Amino acid sequence: MDQLSATLTRVKPSPTIAVTTMAAELKAQGRDVIGLGAGEPDFDTPDNIKAAAKAAIDAGKTKYTAVDGIPELKQAICDKFKRDNNLTYTPSQVSVGTGGKQVLYNALMATLNPGDEVIIPAPYWVSYPDMVLLAGGTPVTVECGIEQGFKMSPRQLDDAITDKTKWLIFNSPSNPTGAGYSREELKALTDVLVHHPHVMVMSDDMYEHLRFGSFEFCTPAEVEPELYDRTLTVNGVSKAYAMTGWRIGYAAGPEKIIGAMRKIQSQSTSNPCSISQWAAVEALNGPQDFLKEWCAVFERRRDLVVEGLNGAKGVTCPVPDGAFYVYPSIAELIGMVSAGGAAIDSDEAFAKALLEEEGVAVVFGAAFGVSPCFRVSYATSDAALEEACTRIRRFCAGCS
Ligand SMILES: Cc1ncc(COP(=O)(O)O)c(C=O)c1O
Repeated sequence: MDQLSATLTRVKPSPTIAVTTMAAELKAQGRDVIGLGAGEPDFDTPDNIKAAAKAAIDAGKTKYTAVDGIPELKQAICDKFKRDNNLTYTPSQVSVGTGGKQVLYNALMATLNPGDEVIIPAPYWVSYPDMVLLAGGTPVTVECGIEQGFKMSPRQLDDAITDKTKWLIFNSPSNPTGAGYSREELKALTDVLVHHPHVMVMSDDMYEHLRFGSFEFCTPAEVEPELYDRTLTVNGVSKAYAMTGWRIGYAAGPEKIIGAMRKIQSQSTSNPCSISQWAAVEALNGPQDFLKEWCAVFERRRDLVVEGLNGAKGVTCPVPDGAFYVYPSIAELIGMVSAGGAAIDSDEAFAKALLEEEGVAVVFGAAFGVSPCFRVSYATSDAALEEACTRIRRFCAGCS
């Protein structure tokens, strides 16, 4: 008898974590490695948020809390949705979990039955398909290539919907591409959904605040009020407030689904960390002006990386609207051999050879469902990014 569950055979470990680990191992061996795999800002959590956490400890707020969040945090989340998204929610429509990851997982566990389909535009965040599989559903990926700006067209959405479709998972700005849907593009998708009342929308707005230039963030329930009753709007403090380690994510949506998510959380992890919840109250209620500065830094790095990579032989790098990733294509390099003798027959082979020959860690596109590409996280110093681009250009120039 196998010691492990059959469910586990359906899923794979997170490849982004695998790359970060591999780069860390090489570093530990003394190799000069530049890691461009991490999905977290390199900024420190702002001081006012840290102070709120320290105050919470000193005030003894260190005990179990309500399963899906303290009232103060739920209210701060309602206020945030009103302020930023013009969405009205009451605390009973809000669920707080241990990171956006748990919130998304709870929602899928709470709603999917065997055979239920979940539409996932590709490139996608690595965890979506595996979470759907763990919850017993069927991921239906829709390939949205570089030629369409990595964005799904209304036609593709309409074609992917069947009687079994339960959810569309929507993510803008996107991990891994940084592509963001304009209001018109999103409205065209919500127009399709209006005609399919059995389809719910899980909008992952994790990168809402990290956006550049004239890009205007929007979210499905705001763009199409008709979808309000079947949309779960997910967000969190990890990316916008540099709080990845604090583990606080949240969602707002129909009470029935929020209640079911609470039930699951009550039998798995119970409440998210009490101290982190108080820190998140301060993050959402406190000053937001630092975001402008952070976005300016990210935008400068984005431009540096886009220019640096477009200068590499065989690399085409689109300009993203938000997040801190670029997702260049290496279609022209496929079939070549690297200077070190590696056959570049896939983006995985490209990433492996780049790490071995030049010490640059990136995540290969197959992990995100669209190849041949790779993802660069530019949440690191300008100096590291410049050196990484130089090495990538040298690596590509050596391919023939
Ligand atoms: C698109 C997207 N959604 C959700 C998450 C989960 O974030 P967390 O669990 O840290 O809140 C991430 C983290 O990488 C992400 O990139």
